[in-house]
Amino acid sequence: MIVLGIESSCDETAAAVVNDKHEILGESVLSQEEHKKYGGVVPEIAARAHLEHIDEIIELALKKAGVSLQDIDAVAASSGPGLIGGVVVGVMAAKAIALALDKPFVAVNHLEGHALTARLTAGVEYPFLLLLVSGGHCQILIVKNVGDYQRLGTTIDDAAGEAFDKVAKMLGLGYPGGPMIEKLAAQGDENRFSLPRPLQNSGDCNLSFSGLKTAVRKIIESYAPDGMVEHAILPKQDVADVCACFQKAATECLLMKLEKAIKIFKEKYPEAEDLVVAGGVAANTYLRESMERLAKRYNMTFAAPPVRFCTDNGVMIAWAGLERFKNGYTNSLDFKPRPRWPLDENAPKAVGAGGVKA
Ligand code: KG4
Ligand code: ZN
Repeated sequence: MIVLGIESSCDETAAAVVNDKHEILGESVLSQEEHKKYGGVVPEIAARAHLEHIDEIIELALKKAGVSLQDIDAVAASSGPGLIGGVVVGVMAAKAIALALDKPFVAVNHLEGHALTARLTAGVEYPFLLLLVSGGHCQILIVKNVGDYQRLGTTIDDAAGEAFDKVAKMLGLGYPGGPMIEKLAAQGDENRFSLPRPLQNSGDCNLSFSGLKTAVRKIIESYAPDGMVEHAILPKQDVADVCACFQKAATECLLMKLEKAIKIFKEKYPEAEDLVVAGGVAANTYLRESMERLAKRYNMTFAAPPVRFCTDNGVMIAWAGLERFKNGYTNSLDFKPRPRWPLDENAPKAVGAGGVKA
């Protein structure tokens, strides 16, 4: 079974071909550089860039895989949540292929793409406990099966990646902020500034990053003659120290709530053993290593996709599409792309709008 997957929900135009033997046959990714100067993704620019490049990206993935469109069993596209202009471009491309070649179309929830990647790359079995941390999302979920999720906790304000991006912006480090913060944090003193751990006593698995961000803002403002963050001048070492302290605090917030979630998960599924991280922030080595230690303490196996499959890519969409297709889920060509699409709404009995069980 061979599936083509297309991703265009944010600022990566990507496509890939995978098969049911867990093999990535071919892939191509184009990370849009156009947004760098704006300090964040500009939706209209992203949509135009997707439109301009999508055909060549799909062709390249097929060429690398050494297959033609006729060889494909199904075509999947990231169909939400995301920036709708970009999502529409990918979904239209997938539907056009499906229609022209009479192949099934599979609408993949972008978050499900992230969530199931470790099944492709590490053979993780259901059920598993997942920390999903990206630029737009931050959730702790039990993944019971394809399309069957139980959310244990979520952020009540910023996503984890968003917090990295906002702190980086305050420090003038450019977009995306996560990789730069991680790099600088490696040279910083993680105990120099004291930062809060929001919601640590809330008793649930929910997260919050806005208080942490405000605390970082106050530190940066103290370096500005007029108290304005834009005018702050920080010595290089102090920037590294802020990065290290923020990275430590954000990671500890995630770990605190993960520990609670592990207890709930283990009670429900004593036999299950996998702790998985996914999404762009999962590329962060400090977080990965901290999670690995946490997993060990609870006799769990830690799995994280290779770093290049943590940020948006076509492989994750092709794989989630393959899992859906294999389980009999395809979608009709009138499926409407969804700017919002909660993962835990996507249970098998209530497939998203336009979804049909084949
Ligand atoms: O999954 P993704 O590529 O796009 C979304 O679906 O949001 O995630 C992008 C996010 C950005 O916020 C970026 O700053 C963050 O992932 N990120 C990182 C790292 N690499 C990417 N955050 C922390 N450390 C990293 N190494
Ligand atoms: Zn993503």
